[in-house]
Amino acid sequence: MTNIIWRSHPAPSLSGTVRVPGDKSISHRAIMLGALADGTTHISGFLEGEDCLATMRAFQAMGVAIEHHGEGRVTVHGAGLHGLRAPTAPLDVGNSGTSMRLMAGVLAGQPFASELIGDASLMQRPMRRVTEPLALMGAEIATSERGTAPLAIHGKPLHGIRYTLPVASAQLKSALLFAGLYAEGTTFITETGISRDHSERMLRGFGVEVQQNGATLAIRGGQRLTARDVVVPGDVSSAAFFLVAALIAPEGELLLENVGMNPTRAAVVEILRAMGGDITVANPREAGGEPVADLRVRASRLHGITIDEALVPIAIDEFPIIFIAAACAEGETRASALHELRVKESDRLAVMTAGLRALGVNCEAGEDTMRIRGKAGTAFTGGQVASHGDHRIAMSFAVAALRAAAPVEILDCANVATSFPTFRALAQGVGMQIEESHA
Ligand code: S3P
Repeated sequence: MTNIIWRSHPAPSLSGTVRVPGDKSISHRAIMLGALADGTTHISGFLEGEDCLATMRAFQAMGVAIEHHGEGRVTVHGAGLHGLRAPTAPLDVGNSGTSMRLMAGVLAGQPFASELIGDASLMQRPMRRVTEPLALMGAEIATSERGTAPLAIHGKPLHGIRYTLPVASAQLKSALLFAGLYAEGTTFITETGISRDHSERMLRGFGVEVQQNGATLAIRGGQRLTARDVVVPGDVSSAAFFLVAALIAPEGELLLENVGMNPTRAAVVEILRAMGGDITVANPREAGGEPVADLRVRASRLHGITIDEALVPIAIDEFPIIFIAAACAEGETRASALHELRVKESDRLAVMTAGLRALGVNCEAGEDTMRIRGKAGTAFTGGQVASHGDHRIAMSFAVAALRAAAPVEILDCANVATSFPTFRALAQGVGMQIEESHA
């Protein structure tokens, strides 16, 4: 991939309306469940980012007919629960942890062998959290010695288990739910912390019974899925960059339309409000089984807070941009229980700390904690930061430039295309100035 460099400039004011692209988590699941369903699924609002396209290509490689019409419209001709065919080559899911972990669950119970691979970042990420419980269900999956991909999967008959998730991970929960469809008997999954519930919601939408008893989910094997149309809401994780941009810009106001507000996803709004952010939730409604709203956001004087640990898994992907907000908030912001940030697309605690310090911010990361002393007025010097190929780090520092003394140069931005290919265009449309060059 070419190395893309961004140069983001301070800007006095933002204004306008933004419609962020479709939710990444829901787009992946729509392809997967559509592929396993009986009948035809029409998806609208599909995220045309590299990650979701990787999921689409992987299912096409297993014989599923999927038509990509563009502009977020996709038609999936379901192959049925037992209709996937053996792929003839390893399935390369690029940067996408969601594709790899959720597909491991689907592939574990197939009557064929398959291999999952990804890019340099994904090949470093922990996979035992998925392969170990799948092995308890009877799966045979080999990882590298370090517990990373490639995942060599020999499909086996599976059986239900009772399992308590050791981490609050929707990817792990979803892998086990999907494997549970192929298992004999019932699979019981107990969560110890809240994680996004898109899989449960969508499975139910496709007619699968997923029972919930307190923190325990139960799914009976052998249930067939019935195709239905999926309307994908805007991605709150993408909206978060514009939320913070509008809050920290010296002046102005943005309207963010059609943002997914699932309560297991949208804690970023609560956290930013607790920091003094002026965010109005308007026109709440439901789309495709998910809560959606429009968000009006005004430039605000933020102050530091201690972030409630219970909100961490519900805002897990938003911490890079929350750290930027914290650097612009008067006083100290503290967060803890951030261990999962170390195993995302990059070590987000280390990479954010290095970038914030390069821009003159007083901050300190512990093993799973972060402390940031923020400032009103100019919060960052100009300078250069490394995104380490992490899309959310790149977009976070592009937003930080709004409150910098001089332009911020961000290295290695090509992976923004994994989750938000239109970010730069939308940002420029509301008054940000981000130049792009290719190295
Ligand atoms: C995702 C779950 C989260 C999140 C990721 C997408 C999903 O990961 O970080 O970007 O779609 O299920 P974990 O479940 O591992 O926390």
